[in-house]
Amino acid sequence: MDTERSDVEKSALRTPARPRVLVVGATGYLGGHLVRSLHGHGYDVRAIVRRDEQRDALEPFAEVVVAQATTPSTLVGVADGVDAVFSSLGITRQRDGLTYEDVDYAANLNVLREAERAGVGSFLYVSVFRGDELESVGLVAAKERFVRALRESPVRHHIVRPTGFFSDMKDFLEMARSGRAWLVGDGSARLNPIDGGDLAEACVELWEQGVPEAGVGGPRAYTHDELAMVAFQALRKKPKITHLPLWLVPVVLFLLRVFAPRHVYGPAEFFLTAMTTGDMVADRWGERSLDAFFEEEVAALGGATTGAVPATRPG
Ligand SMILES: NC(=O)c1ccc[n+]([C@@H]2O[C@H](COP(=O)([O-])OP(=O)(O)OC[C@H]3O[C@@H](n4cnc5c(N)ncnc54)[C@H](OP(=O)(O)O)[C@@H]3O)[C@@H](O)[C@H]2O)c1
Repeated sequence: MDTERSDVEKSALRTPARPRVLVVGATGYLGGHLVRSLHGHGYDVRAIVRRDEQRDALEPFAEVVVAQATTPSTLVGVADGVDAVFSSLGITRQRDGLTYEDVDYAANLNVLREAERAGVGSFLYVSVFRGDELESVGLVAAKERFVRALRESPVRHHIVRPTGFFSDMKDFLEMARSGRAWLVGDGSARLNPIDGGDLAEACVELWEQGVPEAGVGGPRAYTHDELAMVAFQALRKKPKITHLPLWLVPVVLFLLRVFAPRHVYGPAEFFLTAMTTGDMVADRWGERSLDAFFEEEVAALGGATTGAVPATRPG
């Protein structure tokens, strides 16, 4: 009988099953990097998407399942045969009319409960650097509520706390393109943002090493002034920076809370609070530099003089 099997089949029979990892949030900036990193490390990857048309980008790297993390009945079975869950599920740019409590907390909890039911061994969750100190912010409060549920779960937890993604730093490019960077405070607070690919690699390594909780930042810390300068440099523009007094922040947030829609207030609350929380410098991971990322962004959008930089959302 064995002689009738192909070499591939025989080798598959000899090779022990590779660990399978379920990625939630796989269609997002970080989730896409997580899928590719896990696949690159030789894991079997399963990814949840919420719409059929989101399959194509992930199918080369993962078994793709359509399910709604906000609806527990659709999750039944998604974690069967899975060794670990990685979740970067959360609201950033989405405008579904849902709250951070609905998604960052409750939808992640739905996935966790399904993981518990399926006997999954570990769960890696991406929260926010210094999240435990930033719980006055709605987005962070929902994430930290899920962190507490995860710590209490019988599933082994891994909580990764990134400082800020390079993709979020495009706000500095947008300000530079408009001709002036508006910073809150004196511009001396420091931050070491990280590339999505480097962060995904850090997540895989921290999980493989069994690290329960870790802050993760990029290879270089910049002051806020330096972040703005690097953005002006990438655009070959003369730097103009205005420092706004710290007392303005609560006033602006009050006005936004009263007059702006939730999808504007939520990210603004996070961004302004994080910018006034002092240094956000975590353990350094990865190699990609923000300078190179900005140069690439500007080049991709037609170069330093014509480049229009799309506004992005904070975490
Ligand atoms: N400073 C920081 O520490 C920092 C910085 C940035 C981000 N973060 C956090 O890291 C996580 C990942 O960030 P990212 O930039 O990768 O975000 P992203 O690109 O917006 O990805 C978010 C993922 O969550 C999914 N999602 C959102 N709402 C959903 C809903 N109602 N139902 C089902 N899925 C939903 C998205 O699905 P769709 O693609 O279908 O919308 C996407 O897969 C976020 O939780 C963010 O808050 C932290």
